[in-house]
Amino acid sequence: MKKLAGLPALAVLSALSVAALGCSSKEKASQQEEGPRWTIGMSQCNLGEPWRVQMNADIRKAAEAHPELRVVFKDAQNDNLRQRSHVEEYVRTGVDLIIISPKEAAPLTQPVADAYGRGIPVIVLDRRVLGDRYTCFIGADNKRIGRAAGRWIAERLGGSGRVVELKGLMTSTPGQDRHSGFVGGIRGSQVEVIFEADMKWLEPNARQEMESALARFEDIDLVYAHNDPGAHGAYLAAKAAGREQEIIFVGIDGLPQEGQIYVKQGLLEASFEYPTGGKEAVETALEILSGQEVPREITLSSRVFTTANVEQGGEWLEQ
Ligand code: FRU
Repeated sequence: MKKLAGLPALAVLSALSVAALGCSSKEKASQQEEGPRWTIGMSQCNLGEPWRVQMNADIRKAAEAHPELRVVFKDAQNDNLRQRSHVEEYVRTGVDLIIISPKEAAPLTQPVADAYGRGIPVIVLDRRVLGDRYTCFIGADNKRIGRAAGRWIAERLGGSGRVVELKGLMTSTPGQDRHSGFVGGIRGSQVEVIFEADMKWLEPNARQEMESALARFEDIDLVYAHNDPGAHGAYLAAKAAGREQEIIFVGIDGLPQEGQIYVKQGLLEASFEYPTGGKEAVETALEILSGQEVPREITLSSRVFTTANVEQGGEWLEQ
């Protein structure tokens, strides 16, 4: 919100007269009464997975250190149209900056471009939109993560094996990049993808797809899932079929309370970290709001947690 928006006329007058007096302590006091200086509208595509709950928590925690910031959150519950209307609502109510983690690239491109076109800075977090009508993109490099996973898997399987790939939503950029990176990572090996399906990031879908894979193939060496909920769903399907011991499970996200625990428990052999970027988004927002230039793209680094290194805090991926 703009500093004086929505205040009763009397409050506006008194704020103006304090400013006219040029009294800095009174000015400060009046600013405190007015509350935070800037409002950020955060548009989250869904809160169904622990990873997204963590992203919001990271944003909230980083913002708490800055009383000049107020963050409002909206959850689109995995619905593009709802997320679009949330962005439009933020524009209508005049937030100072928008952070969006979009569900899918194409449907959210226009509302983001419109907000940006009206002079509202937009930080796109984790999943991308199309084109370049936004202020800054923040996220880890999903191609690099996919490639690292492919190389790790090829090595773990001794150069050959039969793999099930459970993809994230293929109309979202992390799904596309985790797939193409992986294909590059296994190139030159004898690793073969015998079954692939789009589980749309969702554990119940992954479980169902894995049931089909198990019914069709007697021999599966490894499951590469584009996120940890997907890897966990596949593990549960294999366990129900009594085949979890013969299959290796690999996922992505690596949250301390999710993927890292699965690795410690031996459910997954590896989970590749996908940082939420919540803290970086708030820091970047502050820079933008205080008039500083920020890069168009901020790439976050990532670790791999394996059975061998999870207790030591994982290992950083090569840049
Ligand atoms: C959560 C999630 C994460 C994944 C990210 C990709 O909705 O599926 O598990 O890493 O989104 O955007």
